[in-house]
Amino acid sequence: MDHLTCVDYIVAKCLKIYWPEVIISCYCKSFALTKIKVQGRYQVKSVQNIIFCAALLGLPFTITGVVNTAQAAGNVNVYSYRQPILVKPLFEAFTKQTGIKVNVLFAKKGLVERIKTEGKNSPADLIFTTDVGRLSGALKAGVTQPVISPVLTKNIPSAYRDKDNNWFGLTTRTRIVLASRDRVKQDTITYEELADPKWRGKICMRSGQHVYNIALIASMIAHHGEAKAKQWLKGVKANLAGKPSGNDRAQAKGVFSGRCDLAIANNYYMGKMETNDKHPEQKQWAASVKMLFPNSQNRGVHVNVSGIALAAHAPHKDNAIKLMEFLASDQGQQIYAKAVFEYPVKPGVEWSERNKSWGMFKADTLPLNDIVKNRKRASELVDIVGFNNGPSS
Ligand SMILES: [Fe+2]
Repeated sequence: MDHLTCVDYIVAKCLKIYWPEVIISCYCKSFALTKIKVQGRYQVKSVQNIIFCAALLGLPFTITGVVNTAQAAGNVNVYSYRQPILVKPLFEAFTKQTGIKVNVLFAKKGLVERIKTEGKNSPADLIFTTDVGRLSGALKAGVTQPVISPVLTKNIPSAYRDKDNNWFGLTTRTRIVLASRDRVKQDTITYEELADPKWRGKICMRSGQHVYNIALIASMIAHHGEAKAKQWLKGVKANLAGKPSGNDRAQAKGVFSGRCDLAIANNYYMGKMETNDKHPEQKQWAASVKMLFPNSQNRGVHVNVSGIALAAHAPHKDNAIKLMEFLASDQGQQIYAKAVFEYPVKPGVEWSERNKSWGMFKADTLPLNDIVKNRKRASELVDIVGFNNGPSS
């Protein structure tokens, strides 16, 4: 194995290898084409293979850990859609407690498809992701298996896990309204009210087809029935400031810039903006809004989850379940929720100071399984009302 050259270093940096000791394998159609071992200093084997493999996979991925079918006992392989920086403290605490090494493969997309392609030879033990849409999508793709664990069923409320235990929520996130501190006087709001003509031209919202909004719309169908949900969606569309575009943070920026008075966003983006030293302008966006937790006065604010699923052919099943149970423990819950500005799913676990500072709210108790049932119809309604065409269409 050659020592690091200048080119190797650039490639390693491009691949965003953060951890001091990692082994990386890149798989294409179940064949390992490349293996990199990084110990203390970068040592890279066959840079050309990495580039070839990455290009072949067509994945905009960032690799940060071990994936190797030949792992000995004492390992667990996680395919993660969550960024390494978020999960690192969590997995380190698990390793410290159990001695089991956690190897992480991170990618922004394509991991479920990859597990499917890898089939029975997949090294994946766990799928770590966000949103019930993606968790139920993994189940639908056939890459999960049920887990019977009294710890998981005791610690994770049934509303936040699959009815057949194929996926489990680990943290909850609320879909809230970010209201202009200067221009919005009221301190409470409901989702229903977003369709009120008094907000004409004043709402910023990302694509109706995004998983976060699909879940919210699915919850409206579950609560009000399809006909009323459709009317509501039409009303919200009429109140949009323009064509839906950008991510949740872009909507907060819209309020800051005066484009709109209300933005729909997940709560943890406030944490990301409030603490963003790399892009300090986002601190101003956050400071320009107040967080309103809709429907706290009645059924509660819409809640989604980040979660985990056991891979269908997990080679280290026992260790994987141990990690799942750690993530559902008080310690795991506290570390994880704090790192991602979300809320522990296990009742009674203390919130982080930042989340506490945002205030208490009542959470909707609608089971996520009911949201899963209504997702398809929600997506159809978005198209039927032409939500993404904007208010004037
Ligand atoms: Fe997000």
